[in-house]
Amino acid sequence: MSNKLGKVLFSKQELNEMCQRLGKQITADYAGKEVLVIGVLRGAFVFMADLVREIDLPCTIDFIAVSSYGSSTTSSGVVKIVKDINQNIEGKDVIIVEDIIDTGLTLKKLTELLETRNPNSIELCTAFDKPARCKVEIDVKYRGIEIPDEFVIGYGLDYAEKYRNLPELYVVNPEEVMNE
Ligand code: IMP
Ligand code: MG
Repeated sequence: MSNKLGKVLFSKQELNEMCQRLGKQITADYAGKEVLVIGVLRGAFVFMADLVREIDLPCTIDFIAVSSYGSSTTSSGVVKIVKDINQNIEGKDVIIVEDIIDTGLTLKKLTELLETRNPNSIELCTAFDKPARCKVEIDVKYRGIEIPDEFVIGYGLDYAEKYRNLPELYVVNPEEVMNE
């Protein structure tokens, strides 16, 4: 399937199945515990909303915002916290939720920073990752779907802050969407 924006890489149903699978895994791994799910704004908000509804555990949520690509499509490698979480995570079981791992720099820096606050545990969960582009070693326990080295939008992911509201994941040529 495709429309004028590009090709649908994953349908609503496939994305839904991904969330069910990850939610089941998390529910089993943390049985008897309570989890704090921290979403990385803004891209993770759609995925996180679907994911937490598949987690059958006592669960609280928070959000953190880090500096992002802006309207460019390659990582600057500089990660800055723009909005911090609103709570003490000491002793908590934390799951950081990201929309996509590209170079891995964002999640690596964020994990290092949150680890200094002494949580009981931290695990990472991403909807998508581009293994071909990963630059740093990073241990991601919950991986949704691996995608090729292409630019994707929809399901929370943006190009210049637009298209986050598309229900499917699309692969696009950034030069073409730029002119939309
Ligand atoms: P990293 O630090 O290079 O891993 O970058 C991760 C961040 O880059 C994600 O949270 C996204 O905001 C953004 N990003 C990476 N690849 C894409 C893409 O294909 N589409 C939209 N955003 C992307
Ligand atoms: Mg982002």
